[in-house]
Amino acid sequence: MSYKNLETTLSEGIITIEISRETKLNALNGATLDEIKDVIGALSQNSEVKAAIIIGAGTKAFVAGADISEFQKLNKSDAHKFSAHGQAIFSLIENCHKPIIAVVNGFALGGGCELAMACHIRVASEEAKFGQPEVNLGIIPGYGGTQRLTQLVGKGRSLELMMTGDMIDAHQAFQMGLVNHVAKDKLQALAKARTLLQRIMAKAPLAIGGVIACANAVFNQNVDGYHMETAAFANACKTEDFKEGSSAFIEKRKPNFRGT
Ligand code: COA
Repeated sequence: MSYKNLETTLSEGIITIEISRETKLNALNGATLDEIKDVIGALSQNSEVKAAIIIGAGTKAFVAGADISEFQKLNKSDAHKFSAHGQAIFSLIENCHKPIIAVVNGFALGGGCELAMACHIRVASEEAKFGQPEVNLGIIPGYGGTQRLTQLVGKGRSLELMMTGDMIDAHQAFQMGLVNHVAKDKLQALAKARTLLQRIMAKAPLAIGGVIACANAVFNQNVDGYHMETAAFANACKTEDFKEGSSAFIEKRKPNFRGT
């Protein structure tokens, strides 16, 4: 996979997707968003890829937001498309059946915070800073931030962050449940993310896809999450991996899951 604004590397089944516009603090312009869409589609289909990490280039920013220069002059109709397009791409990440971790190594502002929140798990370095500063520009979050921030941290904290536009550091983000782990620096955050993914990759892939889909259903008013859970449970029960997992338990050995 070769991209203009992303650097991708595949190692031991984990694809690392680095947003690579360092001089613009990795701000998401349209071309970068399209490349993210492309890479998520490709990794979903590629059997060599079991999991993904999204990270920002350099040490200053994860992603400092959507590229302000590109949406400054949008009319109402184009702004509608702009928001819907970003939302659709971030939904692809959230609904990917393979685990995706955001390693937040600096500013995660606006669309950057929204990108991190679309990932399944967030690991921050101590340099990370989170915020939804859109009100400072006279707009609101448009890539799912009003929804996902409220889901992750609760309405009171979410509204405070979105109404003040304040930035919070990694430890504050951890305390409010916005990030899962805080590591000392970017390298250690990456190592933590890889360790987590290696543990997840040792489980049955169809079961991992099942829990992602069912957890997402909680926030989808068009889906009955309990109904989805029952269907996903039934599907899991008829897999080869369930036979393997339950046999391995009884035989007191490690299971060898194949994703079937
Ligand atoms: N869109 C477009 N360009 C951006 C950007 C964004 N969201 N965030 C940063 N950049 C660019 C700057 O314009 C600057 O480009 P230049 O060198 O060509 O002038 C470069 O990245 C470096 O940013 P700079 O502002 O000089 O760095 P800083 O250390 O002084 O400040 C931030 C860092 C993150 C506090 C500041 O860049 C900022 O507030 N960015 C916007 C954050 C935001 O509002 N995001 C939500 C958008 S909806």
